[in-house]
Amino acid sequence: MEELEEIDGFSIEDLPGVGPATAEKLREAGFSSVEAVAVASPSELSNAADLGEATASKIIIAARQAADIGGFETGDVILERRRHVGKLKTGSGAFDELLGGGMESQSITELYGEFGSGKTQVAHQLAVNVQLGNERGGLDGSCILIDTENTFRPERISQIAGGLGLDPEDVLRNIHVARAHNSNHQILLVEAASELSEQLKATELPVKLLIVDSLTAHFRAEYVGRGTLADRQQKLNKHLHDLMRFGTLNNAVVLVTNQVQSKPDAFFGDPTRPIGGHILGHTATFRLYLRKSKGGKRIARLVDSPNLAEGEAIFSVESEGIRD
Ligand code: GTP
Ligand code: MG
Repeated sequence: MEELEEIDGFSIEDLPGVGPATAEKLREAGFSSVEAVAVASPSELSNAADLGEATASKIIIAARQAADIGGFETGDVILERRRHVGKLKTGSGAFDELLGGGMESQSITELYGEFGSGKTQVAHQLAVNVQLGNERGGLDGSCILIDTENTFRPERISQIAGGLGLDPEDVLRNIHVARAHNSNHQILLVEAASELSEQLKATELPVKLLIVDSLTAHFRAEYVGRGTLADRQQKLNKHLHDLMRFGTLNNAVVLVTNQVQSKPDAFFGDPTRPIGGHILGHTATFRLYLRKSKGGKRIARLVDSPNLAEGEAIFSVESEGIRD
């Protein structure tokens, strides 16, 4: 836990007015990170740590500055950044059309679906496609993959690269893979990814794709039972916040995968729901539900997007990769 709380080199003890005793009380009440303190209200904090409201307010203001929460940007600055949004093509025209041209940079795209639905296959394809030039639907970039389930297969990358007429060895050289052993490690790897991305920034292939496959598996395994749910959500929220920041700062596509949990009490519609609940729903900009269909086909359904119509696309997973 210690390492996680100091992820930005800043822990709650570094906030003015927070001594060891206060820090301990805050942690016990679930305010274990600077971000968590930053979004608290003065009364919540004062109750949690027996502080006066004025002191609590001061602590919150300091946390907001440290966490860089609550800054405003003018619309023209945001528009200028949006002008640079890149679109990464998937290999399937129908899938790209569903996405409005491809997966967008500066956003988080979530692929969720049951085992074997094709999430890891799509991730492999994009790790290759990102290296292509713009005219072929790529972003002239390299890829960082945080692999939590040990499902990265270089052999599969070679096949997909071959399908595009690329040299497999060259392609593999531009995919940087790290295995995450647990959820804390996974969170820390985003920081390592930022460092690597900084190093590659001035090269021919700056990092334009960050994949976390799977986003939720460790969290799901480690946080079992109702009582730990709030803690899990808080950490997942922080993780997603870091990923979003990575996407914005690097003008990169962020792709995360997620399993579904069955909800036997859901009588209507599909009885499966993505793990992570509403936090993931609000943070992921594009959510895609993948499912298997007849004859090896896959169906992707776009679920809540800020500016695209909901809809479905059919694609297939072939030996050479994702196709219509
Ligand atoms: P989990 O990680 O278990 O939740 O599943 P996932 O959604 O990541 O599934 P994944 O992307 O690993 O899909 C596996 C499926 O892709 C297999 O069952 C095959 O149908 C298909 N697939 C994988 N490799 C190949 C291949 O080389 N050729 C073809 N034609 N299909 C493949
Ligand atoms: Mg997978």
